Amino acid sequence: MNIDSATDSSQPQFWDARFTEGRMPWDCHDVPDKLKTYLLRTKPGHALIPGCGSAYEVAAFHAAGWSIAAIDFSPVAVDRAKKLLGPLGELVVCGDFFQHSLNESSFDVVYERTFLCALPPKLWPDYAARMRQLIRHGGKLIGFFLYGEESEPPPYPLIKAQADELFGRDFILTHDEPVTDSLPVFAGKERWQEWTRR
Ligand SMILES: C[S@@+](CC[C@H](N)C(=O)[O-])C[C@H]1O[C@@H](n2cnc3c(N)ncnc32)[C@H](O)[C@@H]1O
Repeated sequence: MNIDSATDSSQPQFWDARFTEGRMPWDCHDVPDKLKTYLLRTKPGHALIPGCGSAYEVAAFHAAGWSIAAIDFSPVAVDRAKKLLGPLGELVVCGDFFQHSLNESSFDVVYERTFLCALPPKLWPDYAARMRQLIRHGGKLIGFFLYGEESEPPPYPLIKAQADELFGRDFILTHDEPVTDSLPVFAGKERWQEWTRR
């Protein structure tokens, strides 16, 4: 591994090393409660999990009747997800969220958890643009968004003005609540949000 890929979270090698060494303080080893609640109160549709990591949520979406796809560009993460998911592992694609066609799908929902905050902020406008492309009008970007400050990123938290600038033109914030059962690394900084595509 060269020095850049060791320190640059926009490179798959950065994440390969963490998954290989088991240094994954973001990994919740389960499906977060707020997503379980969302799936109970929402009619199933077609959803995507970008930067899925271990991809526990694939099984939850599938069990709730959703058509679900997941993507991660770290081959080590994708191997792990496929092993954990068994037959549902075929729903996990190894590829770059920004480059992969994702079968040119239009999604009802894209689920975010610790993907945006894993990206260097210079990539955030590309993230917002890709979400605009992938989510149908009236569809939603849902999930966990990290707000606050971080002395040694990643994770890179948002501030509210940045979120408004990134998403405000194409999305409306239609649901926003604090998260009280975060992992230590995210404690007090996570919010469950639903951004509806205009
Ligand atoms: C902090 S981990 C979060 C994993 C998972 N979402 C979770 O909540 O456990 C960030 C993940 O995003 C993936 N990732 C980063 N940039 C990516 C990109 N451009 N395309 C696909 N995956 C990416 C990394 O490989 C890593 O698995």
